[in-house]
Amino acid sequence: MEDPSLPVHRRIVEDNGGEIVGVPVDRHGMDVGQLRSTHADGVIVTPAHQFPLGATLAPVRRAELARWARRADAVVVEDDYDGEFRFDRQPVGAMQALAPDHIVYAGTASKSLSPALRMGWVVLPARLVEPFLAARGPETVSTIDQLALADFINSHALERHLRRMRAAYRRRRDALVETLAASPYDLRLDGVSAGLHAVVNLENTSLTETDLLGLAASGGVGIHALGDYWITPRDRQGIVVGYSRPPLHQYPAALAAFASLLAPPS
Ligand SMILES: Cc1ncc(COP(=O)(O)O)c(C=O)c1O
Repeated sequence: MEDPSLPVHRRIVEDNGGEIVGVPVDRHGMDVGQLRSTHADGVIVTPAHQFPLGATLAPVRRAELARWARRADAVVVEDDYDGEFRFDRQPVGAMQALAPDHIVYAGTASKSLSPALRMGWVVLPARLVEPFLAARGPETVSTIDQLALADFINSHALERHLRRMRAAYRRRRDALVETLAASPYDLRLDGVSAGLHAVVNLENTSLTETDLLGLAASGGVGIHALGDYWITPRDRQGIVVGYSRPPLHQYPAALAAFASLLAPPS
């Protein structure tokens, strides 16, 4: 697993008998060289937008990862959870085509539409279709919801929705960047301009995750500590901020509340 990554994914792997090995992430995404030195037989990776640090997996690393999967006869799960939302350039394509016999592409409606839909999709290597269906069991997403999504796609409504939301999330991210620039601290966002969340890097400041989370809790601001996502704890301080909520009319007030956490003590 990428280190840092989503804890719930680690729990799912462990609950199913897997053993977790963390692979460090830098500004080019997962360090595939270090993955090669493990004995892993599978990896979950977020190539379009590393969760939570926000890097895009570099093209040479994508090729290296596909090579590793073929050589090690391993399975790569490409978790493309928010690839629809890239703001500074065209979205990077999926890497599944680099090794279709080894890469499972996993998409979700959770970011593009709503997490309440509980809809996702996978593109599987042919040999994994039967084992996947057996593991999933008979439960599926409601057929009505699937038909509604199909209609949404076929009528181009999804495309229009994504275009509108891309512009909206980009404006929210830009407003967050402006809030950080106005703070007296040297704060910046890690990662590429994409997605519905970003990590505020606290490294050049005296601010700590613990202090900010304490202030946020009393100020009614919902933020997360980067520390919650490490497999091997690091001393790198950061705050994970989601900017898809609250509704637009409440967003400026939420940003102002966040900015007040970043003011030095008087
Ligand atoms: C890294 C990552 N992967 C996948 C998902 C999507 O999960 P689900 O489709 O179960 O909502 C999320 C959602 O927050 C996520 O952060």
